[in-house]
Amino acid sequence: MNDSTQSRSAYAFKNSSEESRMQMAGLQAYLDPITTGALDAVGVRAGMRCLELGPGGGSIAHWMCDRVGPQGEVIAVDLNPRHVEPADNLRIVQADIRDGVPVEGQFDVIHTRLCLLHIPERLQIMKVLVDALKPGGWMVIGEFTPEPLRVISTPGEAASELWHKVNTALFDGITNLNGADMNWSYQVHDTMLEHGLIDVHHTEHNESWDGGEGIAARMHYTNSIQLAEPIKSCGVTDAELEEFRALTENPEFRATHYQFINTRGRKPLS
Ligand SMILES: C[S@@+](CC[C@H](N)C(=O)[O-])C[C@H]1O[C@@H](n2cnc3c(N)ncnc32)[C@H](O)[C@@H]1O
Repeated sequence: MNDSTQSRSAYAFKNSSEESRMQMAGLQAYLDPITTGALDAVGVRAGMRCLELGPGGGSIAHWMCDRVGPQGEVIAVDLNPRHVEPADNLRIVQADIRDGVPVEGQFDVIHTRLCLLHIPERLQIMKVLVDALKPGGWMVIGEFTPEPLRVISTPGEAASELWHKVNTALFDGITNLNGADMNWSYQVHDTMLEHGLIDVHHTEHNESWDGGEGIAARMHYTNSIQLAEPIKSCGVTDAELEEFRALTENPEFRATHYQFINTRGRKPLS
């Protein structure tokens, strides 16, 4: 499968790449406890029909399948769903959400994580998603913010400066080349209110990680490979990228993760 979408802006990461397995594993290790806590809070129950937009590695789609059981159904929609394992009550659809929700009917719960931030047409898609919610249904959206990844321990001041240079280039590069917008994370709450959702609430999260072989360190390493083109388009050299990768492997280096905001809102019954 490939990740192409005609002449539209291209998704910055590629699920077809070898590194995408580590990317998905890293995201799931950091975020799944937060996401499943939020989905528990809104009540994903037996018999429900759920939409998982941009399932990536598929862990949340599978968590929902377990909750909705054989009487329920989960639809997982992704540009490239190659990492999503099948399940009896899971319908996997390869589609670009910019063409609309590719299945008929409404949903009890719609969840999407780190997908809309990558799509310039995110505001139009929000309207489509709200229309696809059943009255009383919940929408849950998780996104990373543009907050700098704070250095906690460093082998030297130069390392700290390099860390910030590369991460700033990463954020700017995917914005310029791929139409991503990390500031979207701050707008989700208000956008839900503008679309008439109620009980809108968000939580903010971060945690530290150590350089070395841990999954977060490996994910920052592989991100720098997957996003080498946008990073270099902002003036980072190959030598600096190599130094950045070495930092993620250095146990003397510690930093915070990408800050994450998880927002939920409910469609009124009438
Ligand atoms: C950064 S990954 C996040 C994966 C997963 N939601 C997670 O948080 O672990 C973004 C996912 O959204 C999918 N995606 C990006 N743009 C899309 C689009 N226009 N339509 C459907 N899926 C899209 C990608 O293929 C990828 O699987």
